[in-house]
Amino acid sequence: MSKRRLFVTTALPYANGKFHIGHIMEYIQADIWVRFQRMQGNLVHFVCADDAHGAPIMIAAEKAGITPQEFVAGISSGRKPYLEGFHIAFDNWHSTDGEENHQLAKEIYLQLKNKGLIEVREIEQFFDPEKGMFLPDRFIKGECPKCGAKDQYGDSCESCGAVYSPTEVKNPYSTLSGSSPILKKSDHYFFKLSDPSCVQFLQNWIHTPNPQGRARLQPEVLNKIKEWFVADESGKTGLGDWDISRDAPYFGIEIPEAPGKYFYVWLDAPIGYLASLKNYLDQNNTQKTIAEALPFDQFLSDPSVEQYHFIGKDITYFHTLFWPAMLHFSGRKTPSSIFVHGFITVSGEKMSKSRGTGIDPLKYLSLGMNPEWLRYYLAAKLSSKVEDVDFNPDDFMLRVNSDLVGKYINIAARSAGFIHKQFNSKLGEILPNGESLLVSLQSSADSISNLYEEREFAKVLREIMALADKVNEYVDQNKPWELAKKENSQLELHAVCTTCLEAFRYLSIYLKPVLPALSEQVESFLKCQTLTFSDAKTRLGAGHTVNPYKHLIQRVDEKMLDSLFDLPTETESTASGVTPAISEAIISKNEDHASLVKPGGEEIAQIINIDEFAKVDLRVAQIVSCESVEGSTKLLRLMLDVGEGRHRQVFSGIASAYKPDDLVGKLTVMVANLAPRKMKFGISEGMVLAASHVDEKISPGIYILHPWPGAVPGMRIH
Ligand code: 2FM
Ligand code: ZN
Repeated sequence: MSKRRLFVTTALPYANGKFHIGHIMEYIQADIWVRFQRMQGNLVHFVCADDAHGAPIMIAAEKAGITPQEFVAGISSGRKPYLEGFHIAFDNWHSTDGEENHQLAKEIYLQLKNKGLIEVREIEQFFDPEKGMFLPDRFIKGECPKCGAKDQYGDSCESCGAVYSPTEVKNPYSTLSGSSPILKKSDHYFFKLSDPSCVQFLQNWIHTPNPQGRARLQPEVLNKIKEWFVADESGKTGLGDWDISRDAPYFGIEIPEAPGKYFYVWLDAPIGYLASLKNYLDQNNTQKTIAEALPFDQFLSDPSVEQYHFIGKDITYFHTLFWPAMLHFSGRKTPSSIFVHGFITVSGEKMSKSRGTGIDPLKYLSLGMNPEWLRYYLAAKLSSKVEDVDFNPDDFMLRVNSDLVGKYINIAARSAGFIHKQFNSKLGEILPNGESLLVSLQSSADSISNLYEEREFAKVLREIMALADKVNEYVDQNKPWELAKKENSQLELHAVCTTCLEAFRYLSIYLKPVLPALSEQVESFLKCQTLTFSDAKTRLGAGHTVNPYKHLIQRVDEKMLDSLFDLPTETESTASGVTPAISEAIISKNEDHASLVKPGGEEIAQIINIDEFAKVDLRVAQIVSCESVEGSTKLLRLMLDVGEGRHRQVFSGIASAYKPDDLVGKLTVMVANLAPRKMKFGISEGMVLAASHVDEKISPGIYILHPWPGAVPGMRIH
């Protein structure tokens, strides 16, 4: 089969915050697929970019006292440790505020306009008279028109779930200035998605297979989209025209021939896919040489080039309706397929889009957790369906330790030592039972390839682990450790261990898209060239020398997982208009990229407002008694008086720093409203505050807080 050429993207993340685990999951999914395609010999250009525009970023930058460009650059400069850390190998990372995107967005808009698909209409919207700007829905709050709940967003009520338009909100106020917004008219530009030519094109597009004969959309995505076409009672098509303009001030791309009007961020965001590709291909021969690269226009318009976008389910509408229509009516090729995935939950808990879940990807890495554990675990859960993926810590440990290490790595660990010590690191001949095992492993190459192609990664890993089981059964039956002790069994021992290493090589080929760094170590251990899928047809062969075996991957240590979830998580700020983006901006202004500054070994946690701080009830407490805890070297049992007329039992991990007697009678500070926690040694009814460096090797010691003289038990700390 001739070499395929592919253009692959993930969704472009908003440049208003750090990556969360949801981003990383999407990138890992796409990266595995891209690596697989490359291992098949296909040419892939895999790009991404920051989604830079929009009102929230503009406002966050303003609050931080920097320009939106500086703000976006700050966020962008923090991307590398995540991408490198998780082995996500984009060919290019660009920005939707790049020159290429400005040009392409204007060009595409003018082409749509020439087709008669742009219409100007006057609309009425809330305007903040103090800030002098129209307010996006999320910056309007007020009372819910249905249930009267206070401080509800301009589009929906968190209390009763009602959905409404901002103009229905009672006593609305701007979260930017606190002032009452006024209704003001303005001309807006619309993309006429409801135009019969558009509707007909999209109806046809969603149902027609792509030129490779594959469905453009997953069946469940198609079903959802069909609902959007359904006409309402008035008989109008379900597809509404799309408001693509925003009035100044706005951080975005100016609309040609429309002074003071900017493209709505979602108009230029997907064009950013093309802009990043252009930026990449334009570097060919100037800054770098890109193997087999064609000029951008030629590559993009080539009918045989396939185009794929990996996205989350929440942005399906933009990618399956607006985006193909924009491309088609501007005279461009449409995507071959859109690959939609579900969300990631952690122990069943849904994550917040702005701050992610309890797993902070950088914390994961800084704890020394292996990125390939996560790649393996997520792959073991991902399919071609739009299903949510749950990260469950126990399941994570089980899969990595029992399957990845216990089944796969173990095969090399069980056989390599004999090859090295007894056979001078040389492989031998294979006996018939080994031969049939290897043939069965080799014959799985096609089905595993097909599953990778279909993004059925969970099935891929199930099939590979079933093969690993077969190999381990073979080892159990042939018992190399017994052969090593038996006389006249050298030939057999050599054959069994050789079979194991040949089998290990096949499994490594199949796992390589998921475990790229480990595969490099395997290639070096086996002294073989860069593995591709076609290597499943060959053998290392008798006489091939391997390197001495070094342990390839550690097991997950439960303590690391505990720390991952124990460490302080970011707190979402919602009140007073302090969004996480704004908090981040303030931090990056003050700290010059807070993520790089780690006082005491950890980043300053995300900004919270005073109401959130007030939720933590800190009190002066007197240590009435204190004793060591039998069975624990870390804990002390403290009885504390916080002026409630009773004493509280609190366990504190300070035994290494204080002798119980030295603490009795002293004042300290405790969290008095922490939910009681059942511990092995009894209930702990609060927490004593103490300071320490995250890494005790860098700065040992733990120091409990001690108020100045005059404070008495029960006083609140404000
Ligand atoms: O939902 C989001 O995070 C958007 N920034 C995704 C944009 S994808 C593409 F269109 F750029
Ligand atoms: Zn309500």
